[in-house]
Amino acid sequence: MEKYGKLVIESISEMPSRKKLIVGNWKMNLTIHEASVYVHHLAQKVQVHRDVEVVLAPTMLALQPVSLQIERRQFKLAAQNLYWRDHGAYTGEVSASQLRGLVDYAIVGHSERRHIFHEHHKEIRSKVQAALRNNIKPILCIGETAHERASGETKDVLHDQLLGGLANVTSDEMSEVVVAYEPVWALSNGANFHDHKMPTPDDVKRAASAIRGQIKHLYGEKASEAVRVLYGGSTNASNASSFLAVDGIDGLLVGGASLNQHEFISIVESAHEVDDK
Ligand code: PGA
Repeated sequence: MEKYGKLVIESISEMPSRKKLIVGNWKMNLTIHEASVYVHHLAQKVQVHRDVEVVLAPTMLALQPVSLQIERRQFKLAAQNLYWRDHGAYTGEVSASQLRGLVDYAIVGHSERRHIFHEHHKEIRSKVQAALRNNIKPILCIGETAHERASGETKDVLHDQLLGGLANVTSDEMSEVVVAYEPVWALSNGANFHDHKMPTPDDVKRAASAIRGQIKHLYGEKASEAVRVLYGGSTNASNASSFLAVDGIDGLLVGGASLNQHEFISIVESAHEVDDK
């Protein structure tokens, strides 16, 4: 009996504990003033749970003022993008070294960056590298388009985008990387207005398992079990729990719904409740 008890304790202590992560990506919305008012309201209502990390990704301009307003125990900040060189003559860009200390995370390779701004593997990989060398955890977004999905290419696309983004990342650095599965056809941004659909929890489970499988292949089992994998695409207060309950999913990258305080607060609570079960 004692033996059995010891075994159980050992196996529990070896289990990687993956803190749930809820990221609100505000995209190009809210002025500095609006962002500040919004954070003021959120701060009064978002509960701090030890098992849930809440991250806000306001527009670049609002990062500094919002950083002075928040308590890091309650919210952390993410940049929505960054430039991969540390400094120099790159008009209009903001580098990871300039964001260092201001943000804990940076979204890299979001589908809007890939499709509207034509970012490719090489650039995305350099951004992942830039984030890591500046102590910023990259949230690497990957996901297939409706067309790729219809052609049965989902797994290949995830494989290519992971490989493309992670090339040069060492196994030590891998513990700092978060991967977000965001099927392009499920985003609420209007680019896929006619094709918009929601994945089933099973679709998301398959994608998460393909992602972990690939990471296992590249970095070994420990890394594949430790990496946090998020789902993103039209999540809201009503569907958050169903995605958070998916095996292998550790949180959500929330776009549109993160601009509505009631929705966002309720999503954070769902993450806590799912973890409680
Ligand atoms: P959405 O956006 O929740 O509005 O679909 C998610 C994202 O683009 O990260």
